[in-house]
Amino acid sequence: MKKFLFYAVLCCAVLALVVSGCTSTQETGQDPDPEDTEKLVMGTNADFPPFEFRNEENEVDGFDVDIAKAIAAALGKELVIEDMEFGGLTQALNSNRIDMAVAGITITDLRLEEVDFSDPYHFAGQTVVVLEDEENIESVDDLEGLIVAVQLGTTGDLEAHERFEKENIRQYNKINEGFLDLANKRVDAIIIDIPVAERYIEIKGGCKTVGGAFTEEYFGIAVKKENTELLTEINNVLADLKESGKFDEFINKWF
Ligand code: ARG
Repeated sequence: MKKFLFYAVLCCAVLALVVSGCTSTQETGQDPDPEDTEKLVMGTNADFPPFEFRNEENEVDGFDVDIAKAIAAALGKELVIEDMEFGGLTQALNSNRIDMAVAGITITDLRLEEVDFSDPYHFAGQTVVVLEDEENIESVDDLEGLIVAVQLGTTGDLEAHERFEKENIRQYNKINEGFLDLANKRVDAIIIDIPVAERYIEIKGGCKTVGGAFTEEYFGIAVKKENTELLTEINNVLADLKESGKFDEFINKWF
């Protein structure tokens, strides 16, 4: 009898594991349910205005979202947006949780080892943001020994680590919090992409950029390696948007 009970409990435990395993697969979007093929899942990090941010209705909105909507429309699919940490996007692509990452992502050689990129769709560079009354910092070269804020896993983060000591760099998952710390003088400067710096300055006030852009970066849409079918479709849509003037409309709307 005891033995029977033991096996009964064991069976239940195994069953529970199997069932919970199935549920978590569904949640991560790996479920082969044919309904999923009608969706195009975009991964992003909505902390990067005007490329992606939360609007007044708390929806993810922005330049990248308009581009992603155009891609979904061209494919006849419904766009689903997954807002996640910037550093988690590659992993999300490679585990099929998302189909494409559209997040103002700079095309770099290192990233090209892990994912594929579309044709470049935007040009930008890193800049330095300081408080408006700051007089001693005129460019990135003046940041030695000071405390610098960056968003974790971004090219701004990489640039900071190439130039400064680790203990002087504060990494944020949400750079919005870096701006709060700048306002409260807990950090001396922020390194971030120039169009985003300018938008944050507009929204928050009290700070300015110095020295202009000190890197040259091209943004691309990332897909899982060898997902050439989707990549070709994305590139076709980007080309069509440019040709039809829609792309310029998006630029005028967001910049
Ligand atoms: N362009 C920079 C990079 O690729 C920053 C991108 C941050 N994007 C975001 N949605 N938070 O590293």
